[in-house]
Amino acid sequence: MKIFLDTANIDDIRRGAAMGVVDGVTTNPTLVAREGVDYKARVLEICSVVDGPISAECISTELEALVSEARRVAAWHPNIAVKIPMTEVGLAAIKRVSAEGIRVNTTLIFSANQALLAAKAGAAFVSPFVGRLNDAGHDGMDVIREIVQVFDTYQLDCEVLAASIRGPRDVTEAALAGSHIATIPPAVLFQMVNHPLTDKGIEIFLADAKKYAPV
Ligand code: G3P
Repeated sequence: MKIFLDTANIDDIRRGAAMGVVDGVTTNPTLVAREGVDYKARVLEICSVVDGPISAECISTELEALVSEARRVAAWHPNIAVKIPMTEVGLAAIKRVSAEGIRVNTTLIFSANQALLAAKAGAAFVSPFVGRLNDAGHDGMDVIREIVQVFDTYQLDCEVLAASIRGPRDVTEAALAGSHIATIPPAVLFQMVNHPLTDKGIEIFLADAKKYAPV
């Protein structure tokens, strides 16, 4: 499963990239606003740190404006996947710009039907929001499993990008569900590295290593 970082914080992206396990980055208006930086400059900075798909969200709500915005954002860097929310206008825009070779990450997906439509329109990625589905009393991983099954059945050329991940267990569940990608908040990625038994084992090994000559 590919691991993307879900953040616009460049320090966390550098720290995660240094581990050699980050395959891409997703941003959204909330994550960018949190950093208080110039949008394009930060996206380009992220592109310089992680050599993989970098999702940057488009916010226009009218079709022609959305198509123009998607073309403009996609032109910032070859690795950019433009994020377009799942709406009728969004689908029409996805159809248009994906035909021009622009990669689209369809965001705010909450059902297998939405994912199916986005894939049919030409999206490269669909982003089901697992955490928000769970917040609403649904089973977000069930939606991931349904989407994976539909995409596999019809061999749809679109990757499932599990989003709205809230903890390490969500990453395990997304992998077990067959999601192609999970986009993970940096804090969750850093949590995934650690286990108390690992720490205890290292402590014991280091103590015992002192009992013999250093190599
Ligand atoms: O990529 C989408 C993600 O950032 C949303 O997460 O926790 O706001 O539902 P959350």
